[in-house]
Amino acid sequence: MTRVALTSSSVALDVALDIGTAQTRLATADRGVIVDEPTLVAIDTSTGDVVDVGHGAREVVGRTSRHVVVFRPFAQGTTVDFDVTARLIAHLFERAGVSKLSRARVVMSVPSLATAIERRALRQAAIQAGAREVSLIEAPLAAAIGLGLPVQDPVGSAVTVLGAGASEAAVISLGGIVSAGARRLGGNDIDAAIATALRTRLGVVVAPTTVEEIKCLLASARGRSLGMSQVVRARSVDRGELVEVEVTAELVNAALADVIAATVRMIQECLAETAPDLSQDVSARGLTLVGGMAQLTDLDELVATSTGVEVAVAAHPDLVVIEGLRACLEELASLHALLRAADR
Ligand SMILES: Nc1ncnc2c1ncn2[C@@H]1O[C@H](COP(=O)(O)OP(=O)(O)OP(=O)(O)O)[C@@H](O)[C@H]1O
Ligand SMILES: [Mg+2]
Repeated sequence: MTRVALTSSSVALDVALDIGTAQTRLATADRGVIVDEPTLVAIDTSTGDVVDVGHGAREVVGRTSRHVVVFRPFAQGTTVDFDVTARLIAHLFERAGVSKLSRARVVMSVPSLATAIERRALRQAAIQAGAREVSLIEAPLAAAIGLGLPVQDPVGSAVTVLGAGASEAAVISLGGIVSAGARRLGGNDIDAAIATALRTRLGVVVAPTTVEEIKCLLASARGRSLGMSQVVRARSVDRGELVEVEVTAELVNAALADVIAATVRMIQECLAETAPDLSQDVSARGLTLVGGMAQLTDLDELVATSTGVEVAVAAHPDLVVIEGLRACLEELASLHALLRAADR
């Protein structure tokens, strides 16, 4: 009896966590996705305290003490600042109602291209933030689970995750990734290329959020321009004054061509190294694009024509990975219930 009571009082709150280069998402099994905010941490450098994270961190810039600095602890899909990442996770745990004492079990995504050191850093950051147990799941596998694909079956399921800092293509069968391709490239690199084109061709600097808006509005992976353009506020490079410039789809499409070509090549390489029988499954069942960048206009069409495989973009593509991790939590909970039942 005592033993049963002890077990139930130590039931942890399980948390799914997908920290991306641009966005951070947190979900629990019963509450769903409760955080979906920019991966930003505002720290007061005079005290070392975290002032806020996510949306709040963005708003705090320039509004409070000038000692507050906003950090982006992730780049190219992985942590570049261990300490800030640990504090980001601790802050998120607090928001989700996970105290250090509740010793949460955490399921986290990791890009398939993350090195052993990067994986260890991520795991340690979560433990430092108060997690008891950390399971890392490669993003394409989490995505396939989130899409409800039959990952455990002996059939090939193809999924491509296109984020802000990492791109990954994978074919999954029998619970594992059987062929994969990955690049440390994503939507951020497209934004950087557009910003460079604006500077060199129009002589202006544009705010990062405006660059992203221009991309979402004007970019086409197939270079379609349809005569579209957008007038934006910018600062001229030589005189520093505020000006309005007209940005054309043609400028944007020329800028994103390299990143798009590399992304398509990655998917082609992944499919090319897939065994023939699984390859047939992929041809029959198609390939799904997930991640925020999957929404880039015409990218699905371009991938379909360059691979000969039918391509679909997931509904809410940016939430597929976190939903997959959340589904893993449910599995984890039932698995632990089974183990507890056996451990009498
Ligand atoms: N309509 C759109 N067209 C083009 N790109 C888009 C669109 N909507 C969002 N994006 C891009 O998707 C990216 C964000 O995707 P996502 O949230 O999957 O990234 P992340 O998980 O933070 O990054 P990563 O997993 O690579 O570390 C951003 O670069 C954003 O500009
Ligand atoms: Mg991501």
